Amino acid sequence: MFYRPEDGHGLPHNPFTAIVSPRPIGWVATRGGGGDNLAPYSFFNAIAYDPPQVMFASTGRKDSLANIEAAGVFAVNIVGYALRDAMNVTSGSYPPGSDEFALAGLEKAECQTIDCPRVAAAPAALECRLTEVVTLKGKGNFLILGEVTGIHISDDCLSAGRFEVTRYQPLARGGYKDYSVVREVFEMTRPGQG
Ligand SMILES: Cc1cc2nc3c(=O)[nH]c(=O)nc-3n(C[C@H](O)[C@H](O)[C@H](O)COP(=O)(O)O)c2cc1C
Repeated sequence: MFYRPEDGHGLPHNPFTAIVSPRPIGWVATRGGGGDNLAPYSFFNAIAYDPPQVMFASTGRKDSLANIEAAGVFAVNIVGYALRDAMNVTSGSYPPGSDEFALAGLEKAECQTIDCPRVAAAPAALECRLTEVVTLKGKGNFLILGEVTGIHISDDCLSAGRFEVTRYQPLARGGYKDYSVVREVFEMTRPGQG
């Protein structure tokens, strides 16, 4: 089949996010006037090495974006399979000011380079300073860009100097209600890199 998005797909559910999948999940922690906030975003990725930078997109003006615009900082927590249920709890629509850490039974830790909480049990967490909010085409689409100013790595995930994803089994988002988990990795060498 082929369809133009403006004409509709004619399927029972939108296939777009299933096509661009699996996607990593950035579990975004923020601190606002109303308290601490935590929510998952799968329109998320790393986008530069030096300095390290990340992005995520908010479909609507959500609490995370409001807190980030006010505070200028956020923390991205990485989600492993063991944290899947807690992550899901934090995606609920709760009134502003609700603390999703408490709702999901998650222990908080403090960031070191920014005034922001993070998920203590996360296999890794990225402390970020907001660099830019880009207003995207459409109604209420925002791209949030940040520079990583501090990186936490769980010692359990380090082996022979490598951050081993099989130690925590990254959770990824598919379309619909689908998720996948990375339990197997393999290596390939790029041409010319011996
Ligand atoms: C796995 C997962 C990925 C999600 N990804 C996004 C996303 O990329 N962008 C978005 O706006 N909402 C996304 N959501 C929905 C938000 O998590 C949800 O709207 C949440 O309530 C927002 O919280 P906040 O208002 O505290 O920021 C996702 C939900 C789940 C479960």
